[in-house]
Amino acid sequence: MWWKDSIIYQIYPRSFQDSSDDGFGDIPGIISRLDEIKELGANVIWLSPVYKSPDADNGYDISDYYAINPKFGTMNDMENLFAEAAKRGIKIIMDLVINHTSDEHEWFQKSRDPKSPYRDYYIWKPGKDSKKPPNNWTGFFMGETWEYDEQSGEYYLHLFDKKQPDLNYKNPKVIEEVKNILRFWLDKGAAGFRCDVINIIFKTSLADGKKSLAVQGLEHFKSQEGNHEVLRELRRDVLDKYDCFTVGETVFVDLPDAKLLCDENRKELNMLFFFDHLEVDRRIAQFIPKKFHAYKLLNVITKWQKGLDWNAIYLENHDQPRIVSHFGAADKDSEFWKRSAKMLALFELTLRGTPFIYQGQEIGMTNFDFKNIDELNDVVSHGLNKLMKKMCIPKFLRWKWIKASSRDNARTPMQWNDSENAGFSKGKPWLGVNRNYKLINYASQKNDPDSILAFYKKLILLRKNSKGLIYGDFIPVYADTNIMIYQRILEKEIYTIALNFSSHNIKIPKKFLHLFSSDYYQVLNASGSSEWKNELLPWEGVLFIKTA
Ligand code: GLC
Repeated sequence: MWWKDSIIYQIYPRSFQDSSDDGFGDIPGIISRLDEIKELGANVIWLSPVYKSPDADNGYDISDYYAINPKFGTMNDMENLFAEAAKRGIKIIMDLVINHTSDEHEWFQKSRDPKSPYRDYYIWKPGKDSKKPPNNWTGFFMGETWEYDEQSGEYYLHLFDKKQPDLNYKNPKVIEEVKNILRFWLDKGAAGFRCDVINIIFKTSLADGKKSLAVQGLEHFKSQEGNHEVLRELRRDVLDKYDCFTVGETVFVDLPDAKLLCDENRKELNMLFFFDHLEVDRRIAQFIPKKFHAYKLLNVITKWQKGLDWNAIYLENHDQPRIVSHFGAADKDSEFWKRSAKMLALFELTLRGTPFIYQGQEIGMTNFDFKNIDELNDVVSHGLNKLMKKMCIPKFLRWKWIKASSRDNARTPMQWNDSENAGFSKGKPWLGVNRNYKLINYASQKNDPDSILAFYKKLILLRKNSKGLIYGDFIPVYADTNIMIYQRILEKEIYTIALNFSSHNIKIPKKFLHLFSSDYYQVLNASGSSEWKNELLPWEGVLFIKTA
């Protein structure tokens, strides 16, 4: 299956490359950068939403699935993108956001009339008692999940922003609409879909949820039987008729759920994104930091590597802080920014599964350096700030937590070169450019053999040429607070990987030294040092390979 040995590059279009100088990335901008993606070694692009949208949640609130947001260009531009990508051997997967639409979608506008045939496309309910919401659910964006609509005299459900009303998957007409959307994009040339929050689309009941600090009501809509059925229907009636794949974004997913969702015989999803690994040092739905331990990370990774036959592997996306700031040294020990970014590249690209690289990750882009909440755009950060203010949490603490968790950390414009606005746009960017762009940018790394970019390219090439790194078994070997060691083994190919997540030199425990001995050939290390002294340098990652 071609998607198993692919390398996928995620583009967040509004922050990738602006061609019209309005400060907003666009499709012609993407076309102008396809060569860079090809040079990196990626052969699939996941495109975050480019559909028509009022942008209440940066395009994850779609008002027309069949039209392109004019900020990004036209349908003609999109067709050119498919064609230009194909010329370079690059496929494109689209973002499928079908848990909800925008409240500005025609279906929703019509559904506000209780007599409309569209009424049942969404989840409408009268309030409890006089003017209380129908149940006690809390949403993913720190707020209410029911909005009262004067025109209808009823509430509608929205698990995200109030401008993102949830569709009703008990209505077969909604499923038919989704099939049409899938067919439309597959016929245009899409090679598959990244399916947004796809394990919560079916609401079995609207009863009150169990009390919870995170999302309340989850037991009524997470990975429900009805959800599995919808996925199977989409596979059977549409997806299986094309050469395509799906990767689900599955919130709060656990291994038993994931096994069902990805079981090849059940035919639901091909792979999915889980979140556990990025939450080993955070609590309460990601917002509050706790101490990092490499052994916890290795435990979580082992659980998923062994638990599922095939994983979607990622360390960054448009919702997560930059990995070199999160697990790496960028914010703690900036002297080791570069080495830790390479160590993390080694981590991601030596796991079993399909790797996803997020724009800017390949040059070690870091979290933003904004000074206050007014510089942020993220609807979640603003929601969180409001909620914490209500809870009387002091301003400095609010900012500290928001700064570490804000989705805008990953959304600042791509840093292409050291000219104005990092070469992203000549206009005022929609979101501030990180001030470190003169130091961290694509152009400065392109021809530097010691750069993070060069390291990614080398690793991708190595992975493409070694079945063992793609398909080999994952064997955890050792971990403590700071380091982890694991192997990938396929017949006679043995890869041994050791990673140091700390600022200290750390000796490889004696018991495992034989794995790093001279009958193994040291292939790559994040420090660039040629001498191996049986210890890991600060933030170093090493890969040893043995082929008989
Ligand atoms: C997913 C997207 C996120 C969006 C949310 C609602 O988590 O990745 O960006 O806000 O779904 O669509």
